Amino acid sequence: MKNFVFENATKVYFGEGCVKEYLSCLAKKHGEKVLLAYGGGSIKKNGIYDEVTAILKDAGKEIIEFSGIMSNPTYAKVLEGAKLAKDHGADWILGIGGGSVMDCCKAVSMAAVSEKDIWDEYWAKPGVIDFDPLPLGVIVTVAGTGSECNGGAVITNEELKVKTGRDYPKCNPEFALMDPTYTYSVPVKQMVSGSFDILSHIMETYFSETDEDNVSDDISEALMRNVIRNLRAAIKNPEDYTARSNLFWDSTMAENRIIKLGKKCDFECHQMEHQLGAYTNCNHGQGLAVLHPVYYRHVYKDGLTKFVRFAENVWQIPRDGKSDEEFAAAGVEALADFIKEVGLPTTLKELGIDENVDLKEIAASCNLAPGSYKKMTHAEILAIFMECK
Ligand code: NZQ
Ligand code: ZN
Repeated sequence: MKNFVFENATKVYFGEGCVKEYLSCLAKKHGEKVLLAYGGGSIKKNGIYDEVTAILKDAGKEIIEFSGIMSNPTYAKVLEGAKLAKDHGADWILGIGGGSVMDCCKAVSMAAVSEKDIWDEYWAKPGVIDFDPLPLGVIVTVAGTGSECNGGAVITNEELKVKTGRDYPKCNPEFALMDPTYTYSVPVKQMVSGSFDILSHIMETYFSETDEDNVSDDISEALMRNVIRNLRAAIKNPEDYTARSNLFWDSTMAENRIIKLGKKCDFECHQMEHQLGAYTNCNHGQGLAVLHPVYYRHVYKDGLTKFVRFAENVWQIPRDGKSDEEFAAAGVEALADFIKEVGLPTTLKELGIDENVDLKEIAASCNLAPGSYKKMTHAEILAIFMECK
């Protein structure tokens, strides 16, 4: 394994009833004024908003509302939240939602205390955070990004047409409350998209060096099998607690840094999807579903050992005399079949991307991830986009 330093500063409270049980006590540890951040209003329909605000009011907190955080949160939205926090003197932030809310809150927690332009200093390029961001707690309502247990925040700068993520350990939420029953109301399409995002995070980590025996890859295989099994179960019955709790914890496990230990990591599909998102605002997990099989058809021969393991240990495909290349390719096709089975889009057209979009410009704007089994070029990324049409 490669050398590593491991730390995860987020304390997780997991399970049915955890918000009722712990939020009041956690709120008491923080200041009086809380910036309550959420998305487009799902929490008002499913009762989470009422439950949380009642607890906060009982704990004597003054609530400053920051609502309307959109999927693929923009830098303009970050600045709006930071201004609210500054104007009202917020002491801490409580984010309720998925990756978009959590990511936006992390950037707000920095912008609310920094005098600098945080896009220029910390997103356009990696920076060093030499101050303490506002404390952040999150209540997660959808499985997918795993943002609750890392410092990652993916922000879209609409003016520059750049969607990019940075992971600053100082932005790890102090606490994350995860009640799997809160995810029951997530629309099936979003549940499937979030679950594919989990699978993508695991694959982007697994399909990279090192290829020698290592515990991170073994954990990844178990997680991938778990996501596949439990997504099938949750599609059959969205209120299957076992399935929803497994998917919820899978999403955290995929992005709490554990399976990345000793690994190089790839994340080229994420680089491609983020720029597709910057130009078209497409759904993150659905965009990944379109890209992954095509990307892997381009790289599997360069990472044959791992793709053979994937076919064998994740999809449990019988070998039946196949050569290594045939067997590895069968694993990639099993992934493509699963994507169809769970109803994810398989083409850019199905993803809703207009055929007149300039794929050449988007391809040229993608970062080239250093961890890929194959050295990517912008020309090859364009070829991948064209095959996704
Ligand atoms: O906005 P509301 O009304 O709350 O509705 C949301 C939104 O429409 C809905 N939803 C969430 N919980 C719900 C619910 N609807 C009903 N019941 C519930 N309990 O779900 C929709 C999607 O929410 P969103 O937060 O956008 O989804 P997700 O968690 O997939 O986050 C996507 C964002 O995270 C970034 C993505 O690029 C994208 O911007 N990522 C963040 C990462 C990180 N920080 O580590 C890593 C990822 O790779 C990813 O890039
Ligand atoms: Zn992702």
